[in-house]
Amino acid sequence: MPPENVGICSCVPEAPKIDWFRQNVPTIKQVTSDHGELLRNPEVEAVYIAVPHNLHEEFYLAALETGKHLMGEKPFGIDLQANRAIMAAVKKHPECFVRCASQFIFFPAVQRIGRMIEAGAFGQIIEVNAGFLHSSDLNPQKPINWKRTLKYNGEYGCMGDLGPHTCTVPFRAGWVPRNVRAVLSNIIRERPDGRGGKAACETWDNATLLSEAHDPASGSVFPFNLRIERISPGEKNNWYIEIYGTRASVRYSLKDANALELLEYAPGGEGNPEQTWRRIDMGHEVTYRSITPEIFQFGVSDAILQMWAAFLYELDAKRTPAKFAGCVTPAESVLWHKLFTAALESQAGGTTAVVR
Ligand SMILES: NC(=O)c1ccc[n+]([C@@H]2O[C@H](COP(=O)([O-])OP(=O)(O)OC[C@H]3O[C@@H](n4cnc5c(N)ncnc54)[C@H](O)[C@@H]3O)[C@@H](O)[C@H]2O)c1
Repeated sequence: MPPENVGICSCVPEAPKIDWFRQNVPTIKQVTSDHGELLRNPEVEAVYIAVPHNLHEEFYLAALETGKHLMGEKPFGIDLQANRAIMAAVKKHPECFVRCASQFIFFPAVQRIGRMIEAGAFGQIIEVNAGFLHSSDLNPQKPINWKRTLKYNGEYGCMGDLGPHTCTVPFRAGWVPRNVRAVLSNIIRERPDGRGGKAACETWDNATLLSEAHDPASGSVFPFNLRIERISPGEKNNWYIEIYGTRASVRYSLKDANALELLEYAPGGEGNPEQTWRRIDMGHEVTYRSITPEIFQFGVSDAILQMWAAFLYELDAKRTPAKFAGCVTPAESVLWHKLFTAALESQAGGTTAVVR
């Protein structure tokens, strides 16, 4: 039987987006503002929980205690302590399948990069650069929301909000940072509060993290650079990754979402072999087949559908078709919590911090 949306919970059940679900998804039989009520519904087998970061621990634990499979959201706990509590609950409930939403790994070009990593096609890793750039907060007149407050978003600021997306591919590859020098900035320090006054923006807007990472496959230690920016003029949802290796290099950015830039280098002889960047049009070359043929193009909403296909496939088959074809695991979320916690330490002391 195909999966069905049977219930929906929001603290504002009369909100227009909830009405949209009521009117357009006829399988929905329960609309509630009480998440406990939704979790007690025996018809609900799996839940997707997308709530402010301060509620992750409470809501994820409640879902696991009632035996529901869980798709959580990043950063999977507001801080390292909350993440540890979630991880303890995940361990206590092996009957529950738990993953974290992250759609960018499902872009066809990124799936191809994943297959290249699995095949060892890059040779020795020279450098990895990844980032997620937004200009959503460039306008100082934009009213404050929960993502600018320590209480609801957490101390990580933009790192907890945008940063996990930058880690998905490198962490799946096993490229884990050993240390970090972080430069964090709070650029716009107050905003309209929506009631005619001003409110303090307490969270970091932008983060640049320079790390040394280790590649278990080639044994190399290489520079691993993350740029995580809410205030990045000219950028709109630009997720990117660049991997430079001795045998191959790739560059990919959502600014040109259907194109993969690839340079393959075959050493030989004494000369200097030509180095040519090729641009490959990826089209709809998806891991989980859809009705759209390969010759069409692919976008963010397709990536979200692929992510859900991956969640359901793995829930059912207990495996993924390829290493990079699965959603982010709880264990991967622990790695970014350790990195962002070390980044806060680095920023506070103006030093390089060890990622423990
Ligand atoms: N994967 C992605 O690309 C992506 C994009 C945006 C946000 N997120 C993540 O999704 C989560 C939510 O962020 P958002 O931007 O959707 O926030 P939002 O403010 O738009 O939505 C939060 C939702 O939580 C609900 N909520 C809050 N308190 C509740 C309560 N006590 N009971 C029931 N429902 C409650 C609200 O009704 C609202 O629908 C965060 O973890 C965020 O990091 C992920």
